[in-house]
Parts: sequence; structure tokens; C-alpha cells
Amino acid sequence: PDGIIIALDGPAGSGKSSTARAVAARLGYRHLDSGGFYRAITYAALRAGIDPDSWGSLTHAQLDTLDVHGHATETGYRMTVGGRDVSAEIRAPEVNAHVSQMAAVAGVREWLMDALREAGARGGLVADGRDIGTVVFPDAELKAYLICDPEERALRRLREQGADDLSTEHVRAEAARLQGRDQIDSSREAAPLRQADDAVVIDTTQLTFDEQVARIEGLARERA
Ligand code: C5P
Repeated sequence: PDGIIIALDGPAGSGKSSTARAVAARLGYRHLDSGGFYRAITYAALRAGIDPDSWGSLTHAQLDTLDVHGHATETGYRMTVGGRDVSAEIRAPEVNAHVSQMAAVAGVREWLMDALREAGARGGLVADGRDIGTVVFPDAELKAYLICDPEERALRRLREQGADDLSTEHVRAEAARLQGRDQIDSSREAAPLRQADDAVVIDTTQLTFDEQVARIEGLARERA
């Protein structure tokens, strides 16, 4: 294979995706943002008008008709729904608010598994999510579990979104939304958010972005 598999897991807003993208770029690997797949399914189901209360009973045939696909590019994966690029739409607040509900459905996780594992078939992959090191790629050569203080995560997320209002009140409200998602992701029965036994834990609260990228890149080069 052309390179190792690197699994990056952790709570919402811990900087996994941007870190994974930067590490992949430095190593010449591909980035797999697994959250993007859960987001695209959520977006497609909302758009199709399927009641979130009924998501628990979605069949594989129904999921197929949502026409959600991840397309490999040079550097990562591009999500489409009905052939249309949905990279922007899957970051909308409405998707944020519902994605954990979709991701808790065991049948949905199972339906996605082939597509996610296929991405790692040739190695050279940095995959980020919640269950990458525990379930999707349990044999990944490097597993990192990123943690960060909730208010710092909220602040980073708001800055990234270009928010004008960075008042304590606004930051706390965003932190509460992130923690709400973490709560659902950690307590679900199917592939809960959890640190793999052999994961390196990295607390990014006091690290700059470049420091956290360099840290993971360094570990990866030791193991490649
Ligand atoms: O990483 P991101 O915040 O985009 O993920 C969105 C949601 O998708 C998470 O809150 C979680 O519910 C779900 N997810 C998951 N397993 C993964 C990746 C994401 O359950 N491997």
C-alpha cells in the first residue's frame, strides 16, 4: 500500500477535520472526512421531507434512493446528493442540529461502512470522525484522539465561521450545542464516540493549529 492509515477521532469542534486535511496535504495522503458522509445523508433526508422521528427505520433501499455519494478527488472526497455538490449545504445549522440523530441509527452506519472502508483500501489516508480508530479502521497504524476545552472549541468554530459576536453568552451557547452533539454521540449504542485503547490523546486547548498538525505529522512519519 501507498502509505499508512491515520485515524483521528474526538468530540465536535475539536479541530479534527482541518487538522486531518492539513496532515494529509503534508504527507501527500487523501483526507476522508467521515462526518461529511453522515452530514450528506442527513441533508438528503431532510430535503426529501423524511420525518426525523422515522429515521430509525430507514431501510437500505430507502437510503439508496437518497442518492448520496462520496467521490474521491486528488486530496479528499467530494459529497454529492442527486449528482449535485453539497459541500456547503452539509455545514448548515439545520444539518448540525440533526446529524447526530441520523448517525445514531445502526442501519445507516452499516450502510455507509463499505464506502468508508473502500477509501482506505490503498492506504495513504487520514480519516477523521468518531469511530474511525475503534470501528472503521481498527488496524490503523496511527490513532489520535483529539480533545479540547468546550469553550475553546466553540470560540474556534465561531471564528472559523466569521462570526461577529464573540461575546461570552454567544460562545457559551455554541459550546452547549457542541456538547449536546457529543452527548448523543457518546451515549448511543452503535459505535459511540470513544477513545481507542491504543490511541494517542492530544489535548489541543493550548496548542496552535500548526503545533497540532506538526505533532500528528511527526507521529505519522515515525510509523510510516
Ligand atoms: O465531524 P462532524 O462534526 O462533521 O460530524 C458530524 C456528526 O456525524 C457527528 O456529530 C456524529 O454524529 C456523526 N459522525 C459519526 N461517526 C463518524 C463521523 C461523524 O457518528 N465517524
